[in-house]
Amino acid sequence: MSSELKILVLNGPNLNLLGTREPDIYGKETLPDIQQAMEQCAAALSSQTGATIALDFRHSNAESELITWIGATRGTFDGIIINPAALTHTSLGVADALKAVADKVPAIEVHLSNTHAREEIRHKSLTASACVGQIMGFQGFGYELALQALVRRLTA
Ligand code: DQA
Repeated sequence: MSSELKILVLNGPNLNLLGTREPDIYGKETLPDIQQAMEQCAAALSSQTGATIALDFRHSNAESELITWIGATRGTFDGIIINPAALTHTSLGVADALKAVADKVPAIEVHLSNTHAREEIRHKSLTASACVGQIMGFQGFGYELALQALVRRLTA
């Protein structure tokens, strides 16, 4: 195989504060640390699969910006990895955007923490049903697991 897989990695509100934000829950890695680890993982997966895996890694605190980015993925990206952060529990808009492109652009939801082991308000994800799967509780490593799962699905 010599195709290119373009994957959009989206990070929602407050994830730019990783490293100093509640490290007991979210870990000590910063968002740039996670991006770097994902780039290394993408390079390894590229040589394993023969496909070139290109990541576009973004953060926004703005719900509307995330919705706009998701809505523009059709025809441009092959898959999405998203940590919607607090919007997971509140945003029908992000969920609807993911559903609007899901026929062509599958998404995987990631959480650093195990939200089911936290406050009840975090147990419900509005966005998970718009995704092919969810990975949570492994801090930054969850992003690499999500990348492996998405690439496996896209190259199957
Ligand atoms: C989070 C979990 C959310 O409940 C929280 O609002 C976040 C981060 C996680 O990655 O564990 O901001 O998505």
